[in-house]
Parts: sequence; C-alpha cells; structure tokens
Amino acid sequence: MKKRLLSLFLTMGLTASLLAGCGSNDAGNAGDSNTDAAKEETAENADSSEAESSDEGGIQVGIVLPTKDEPRWLQDQAQFEAILGDAGFTNQVLFSQGSSATEKTNVETLISKGIKVLIICPQDATAAAAAVEEAKAAGVTVISYDRLITDTEAVDYYTTFDSFSVGVAQGQYLIDNAKGTGVPLYIYTGAATDNNAFIFFEGAWSVLEPKVKDGTFVIANSEKAAGFVGAGELSRDDEGEILGQTTTNWDFDTAKKLAEANLTAASAEQKGDVAILAPNDGTARAIADTFAADADIKSYIITGQDSEQASVQYVIDGKQSMTVFKDTRTLAADSVAMALAVLNGEEVETTTTYNNGKIDVPAKQTDIVVVTKDNVQSALIDSEYYSASDFTGLE
Ligand code: GAL
Repeated sequence: MKKRLLSLFLTMGLTASLLAGCGSNDAGNAGDSNTDAAKEETAENADSSEAESSDEGGIQVGIVLPTKDEPRWLQDQAQFEAILGDAGFTNQVLFSQGSSATEKTNVETLISKGIKVLIICPQDATAAAAAVEEAKAAGVTVISYDRLITDTEAVDYYTTFDSFSVGVAQGQYLIDNAKGTGVPLYIYTGAATDNNAFIFFEGAWSVLEPKVKDGTFVIANSEKAAGFVGAGELSRDDEGEILGQTTTNWDFDTAKKLAEANLTAASAEQKGDVAILAPNDGTARAIADTFAADADIKSYIITGQDSEQASVQYVIDGKQSMTVFKDTRTLAADSVAMALAVLNGEEVETTTTYNNGKIDVPAKQTDIVVVTKDNVQSALIDSEYYSASDFTGLE
C-alpha cells in the first residue's frame, strides 16, 4: 500500500517536493563521501549500496552505473539511494568501472538477487545488449538510463536528457562568444561506445558547421571534420570518422594527451585566441588546463557538460566558460517513477521514443540548462543542487 501511494505521489507531479528533501547537500556531500568510499573499495564492482531487506526479501530495483571515477555518476548514485531508500524499496547500485564484462557480471548478480526492474547506464551501448537480454529473459523490466542501449529489443524504457540540445548549447556558446573571424576551433568528443557522444556532436555540428563554412571558425585539430564541412547531413560512419580523430573516450588523461598532441602539431595561426568544443566537464578541465599552460594560447573559450562541482568552480574562476546542467535529481526521479509504475502494474509515462537500431524505445526526456558565471546562483544554488559554501569566489 505504501508503495502504491508513493507511486501515486510521484505521478501526481509531486516529485519536486519529494526531491526537495534530497537537495544540494545530498548531491554535493554524497559525491564527496562516495569518492572517499570509492577509494576504500577493493573490488571494482563492489556494492555501493544495499537497502534493508523488504518484507518480500531480495532486491527489487537494481541500478548499474558506468564508473565511480567521474563525479557525474556519483551524483546519480546519491539521487537513486535517496529516492528509492525514502520510498522503502530495496535497491542496490553497482558500478561497472569502465568494463562491459564487469557490467554483465553486475547485471547477473542483480538478477540472482531477484530484481524486478533494472536501471542501467551502459558502459558500451552495443556490448550491454547481451546483459539486458539476460535480464529480460529472467522477466526483469529494463530501463536504459541516460545512455541508450543499442541493437537489441531488450530495452523497455529510456530516460534521458535532451542530448541534441546539449550539443547545440555547447556549439552556440562558442558562436556567441568567439570574437572576429578565422577563430581556430578545436573539437573534442566523447567515447565512440556511447550513443550520447554521437548525439552531442550532432547537436554541436548542426550549429558550428555553418560557422566554419562562413569563415567564423577554422577547424584546427581534425582534418576529417574539416573535410565534412559543406557535405550536408553526416552518416553515423562519417561521425565515427570524426570521433576517431577527436575522441577523449570520456577519459581525462586521454583528453589531456590529445590536447597536448594537437597543440604540439598546431601552427602559429592555429593558436592565439581559440575556441574549444569539449564534450563534458571532466575532459573540459583536462583540456582547459593544457591550453592554459601553452604560452602561445592568448585566450580560450571552452564548453563543458554535467555541472560537476569542480567545473562549476572552474566556471566561477574563469577557467571553463560554460557547463550544461543536467539535473540528476529529475532523471533519477523519472526512472524511479517508471520503476514504481512497473512494480505496481501501472501505466508507464513516456513522452517520446528513441530508435536504438532495433526498436523504438519509449522514452522520457528532460530539458537541460546552460550555466555560465552569470547564473551559477540561480541555476545551481537557488535550486539547491549545490550550496553556496561548496564554492569560493561566488558573488
Ligand atoms: C554521457 C553522459 C554525460 C557524461 C558522459 C561521460 O553519456 O550523458 O553526462 O557524463 O557520458 O560519463
């Protein structure tokens, strides 16, 4: 009964007030404490959370996230634990630590614990298909979380941010803030194993490509991308070629090394005042630090995504130009609302569909917010995602 009431509560649009109870401190502090906890973990796929056993026994909702090494996913973990824990649902969060094999083991572990719903953010979009097919075969409802699992029928629902808009916002920021013409443009992308990396790039390319064509920007670090200017709509393979030259693999170190190699190869005209498309916050910080250390870079503007605490500080300090805020409270709450609807045998609310190469997956999509120095307060502090004391130099 409690569960049915909670489901009603969530679907009646009262999610926001429920979430107010797990606001800024949860997002910020939980991330920190989990980072410490992560250091203490020895097994890579060790449990990070297991709620007390319910009267039915076992685990009802299993959650599998990509890695503890990016603060982004620790924020998601904190939200899941808060919401599902408060709701009285047994749940367990496992991390794949960058390995599809670990991810599959995690899914199998959760199946053996009797989960009814699996919420999974895949490490690798296609490799995860085998894991969720096993879950489906065991009667589990599968919700693809943030990243879409591709080339399988075994995905019931998808919860996501508007990833195309993320890329558009990043590209548009560079367009609005670049000065003059012939501005060297450095392009960096996410992991080619992540469907989102393609969508972010598509969004950015949709606005940047015309501005390369008209001479505002000159692509400095990707002959492939430069070669596709004026070529019209890009195929997935075309995009794959560009990602091949610009990928960070979502890894700080790869991002740093690629930026260093790009700057070593750059001519004098490709330095000076530059624009940098960085796909997310972790890679943006690594790339920004590398550009800042180059004496021939006079100034740079650089994008980001996720509003990780460290990047919000970079934005306040003028070291990163913008970040895209993806409110993990909303995404986790939408996913939990879906899970509860499934557990209660109710209709699941979706707003759109995403084709995963095999089927149109019913999806719920969430909006994004662009954050610059000017709106850190209103977007991130007033909304209680962070507290002002998490930062220094905030006006
Ligand atoms: C994407 C996700 C981003 C970012 C990135 C690296 O799929 O949407 O928010 O965190 O992965 O983990």
